[in-house]
Amino acid sequence: MNGEWEPVWATVSLTIAATRGAAGSQQYKPRGGRRTGTLSDPYNRGMSTVETTAGEPALASPLAAYRQLDAAQLEARIEAVRHRLGPRLLILGHHYQQDGVIAHADLRGDSYQLSKMAAERADCEAIAFCGVHFMAETADILVNRPEQVASRDGRRVTVVLPDLAAGCSMADMAAIEQVEDAWADLGEVIDTHEITPVTYINSAASLKAFCGRHGGIVCTSSNARAVLKWAFAKTKRVLFFPDQHLGRNTAREMGVPLEQMCVWNPHEPRLGGNDAVTLEQSRVILWQGHCSVHAMFRPEHVDAMRKNLPGVKVLVHPECSMEVVDKADLAGSTSYIIKQVEAAAPGTVWAIGTELHLVKRLEQEHADQTIKFLSPTVCMCATMYRIDLAHLCWSLEHLEAGRPVNVIRVDEETARWSVVALERMLEVTAAAGR
Ligand code: 13P
Ligand code: SF4
Repeated sequence: MNGEWEPVWATVSLTIAATRGAAGSQQYKPRGGRRTGTLSDPYNRGMSTVETTAGEPALASPLAAYRQLDAAQLEARIEAVRHRLGPRLLILGHHYQQDGVIAHADLRGDSYQLSKMAAERADCEAIAFCGVHFMAETADILVNRPEQVASRDGRRVTVVLPDLAAGCSMADMAAIEQVEDAWADLGEVIDTHEITPVTYINSAASLKAFCGRHGGIVCTSSNARAVLKWAFAKTKRVLFFPDQHLGRNTAREMGVPLEQMCVWNPHEPRLGGNDAVTLEQSRVILWQGHCSVHAMFRPEHVDAMRKNLPGVKVLVHPECSMEVVDKADLAGSTSYIIKQVEAAAPGTVWAIGTELHLVKRLEQEHADQTIKFLSPTVCMCATMYRIDLAHLCWSLEHLEAGRPVNVIRVDEETARWSVVALERMLEVTAAAGR
């Protein structure tokens, strides 16, 4: 990374296929590093493009050399880049990352904290985002807002996602074309001026832009309640996508009865599988999407824990189904879960229903408490897990060399409208005192 960090590389792209498996499981299969000219939206993720360096010989796997290194070598090289670049480089890590990777993060957080950090960060030159694609897109949108770029004399911050296969199956359950179709269909039976679109941050930038254009807003799992309150003060109805569970759990906690919620199935040919009367009676229209990780926790897992561990406190993420949340003692975002454990007395017994890496880390960090994983099966975010030491080292060394790989850049128009919806979220959350 030398001097002016202008993107001197040409835009060539990787072709990546997102192959849908059975409901609730998706696998991401890179089709190799084929250089195919400009490719936008390889994952149905809105209008961002991915860029890799031109002019290098096409390797079967650009990572091959890094795969030869052991963990200690990779760690040493990652730390060496961090040391040489100092504050010019910012590594962000989501709490679900594996331990080896999170150890190198300058800042770690949940989705809301990471987007807030990105919004406030004007001083760095590059961000390596150890998370998933929508998080890197959000960082690019916020850190490269026009006023931020102007304050840096026109310099953009380069955002890279160490492995482009780190997508989010939930985000992929709502494509912008489907959302636009749903909006048009809704307009046939309801005045859409009466609906506020709310997108969970786990969505493509194009959906955030849709919300910006239509008076809507973004939410995260930690501010969904404040955001819905804002939306209901504005309109009588909300269209909530892509996670039906977060929408349902939050609205119900706010007192919206289940009879006033319906599910919109984007694969149904008409009105998302609803009739006009149902839609007319609904205050919350829930997109039929879910997190493949949190959907694996079942109510019977809670029953089994209570039977086997008397006195256990069950703590789950609101991306779990309503039936699981109902049986739990506490439900909240990733940060909320961490705070509950940090504040608990020694000897507390927990069964936690969220991503495996976080639960394992909590178990290690709080040896004075008993911390169990709620499910008997492994529920881990396989796409987040794609970010490993080899990818991190590879992406950092290319950044330093001024030849960044896997740059995530949201196009200007999409970014402009996404900012509108994201800034509404940041304002609403700040006003709610978070
Ligand atoms: P939070 O980080 O908002 O808790 O969301 C969890 C998650 O699934 C991130 O993808
Ligand atoms: Fe997406 Fe679920 Fe993974 Fe979060 S945990 S990135 S919502 S698949």
